[in-house]
Amino acid sequence: MTAIDVRPSPDAEAVAAAVAAALTTIDRNIATFGTNYPGDTTTGGNYLDRGGNFGWTTSFWPGMTWLAHELTGDASYARAAAGHVPSFADRIHSLSDVDTHDLGFLYTLSCVVPWQLAEDTVARDAAVAAADHLLTRVLEPAGIIQAWGDMSDPRQQGRTIIDSLMNTPLLFWASSITGESRYADIARRHTEQLRDNILRPDGTTFHTFYWDPAGGEPVRGETEQGSSDESCWARGQAWGIYGFALNHRHTGDPSFRAAAERCAERFLDRLPADSVPYWDLVFGDGSGQERDSSAAAIAVCGLLTLGGDRYRAAAGRILTSLIDDYSTAGKPDSNALLRHGVYDKPKGVGVDEGNLWGDYFYLEALTRVTRPDWSDHW
Ligand code: GLY
Repeated sequence: MTAIDVRPSPDAEAVAAAVAAALTTIDRNIATFGTNYPGDTTTGGNYLDRGGNFGWTTSFWPGMTWLAHELTGDASYARAAAGHVPSFADRIHSLSDVDTHDLGFLYTLSCVVPWQLAEDTVARDAAVAAADHLLTRVLEPAGIIQAWGDMSDPRQQGRTIIDSLMNTPLLFWASSITGESRYADIARRHTEQLRDNILRPDGTTFHTFYWDPAGGEPVRGETEQGSSDESCWARGQAWGIYGFALNHRHTGDPSFRAAAERCAERFLDRLPADSVPYWDLVFGDGSGQERDSSAAAIAVCGLLTLGGDRYRAAAGRILTSLIDDYSTAGKPDSNALLRHGVYDKPKGVGVDEGNLWGDYFYLEALTRVTRPDWSDHW
């Protein structure tokens, strides 16, 4: 039987120390990377320069820097973060590596945030262009946003993935800024399809799911980064908690909140003794498998968004574990904020390493508990 984690939420002193340690690392990374981009994951505990703005994770770097600004009020963080806007504007306007649903992750943090915090109109226009490009990935008649690859690639056609729930906030924002409902309408239909098909009856989730491109019928679930098609990839379940919660906030649809709660219940009842999941929820203590600290950090943000005593207490336990046993506080030999994440175990990529999204959501979690009045930008 799994031991019950009874640790309390971190107190104000522990949170302040964790924030101070994170800011020290971010300061060092600004000096190292500037307007370049760290890799998706660390290599032997340290990020290397990736050499350009490509892939799905680059926005987490300015995203973290904007959080540092919001935590401290220090204008130098805002300048460092805003320095990434030209690169993201160029990427979308030149259509460079943008055939992906991850435009939401990329453009919410890199461009919606500087529009909201600094009225940067170049950033605003780039974010609207990214939302327009995301709409080119809608597959009718299913009404889903295809996740990966060329729209005519038979391997990818009709496929979406649980992570996509974090990309729809860009569409809700685009509707609010343009006054055009077509972005939000697509986001809502897409989320309804995931609610009905990617979420299983027992509250676990498929990583990816296919719809028939011609008829639009749901076909089958399949994993890419989980242990098996029928298992439950830990980070996917965390994306489900936070993603359905955000889609509920944008639409007010109670079925999206119910979906987020079902994801949360399964996530919580499959946690090991220290409240940080193994990379697939099929694994427990004694399995010898690696943890995915990034799944824990994402789940904390989702649980805090859901709110209520039970989810806040669970988020507090997970965050305490991350601060105490997974953060790099006091470990200057790493330039990540969190250790022990997993990117893609089946392919052997980023296993037991830090990663940019884990760092971002860890700092977002710390921001949420430091400033309960803070409004996220999703
Ligand atoms: N969104 C890709 C991942 O979570 O690995």
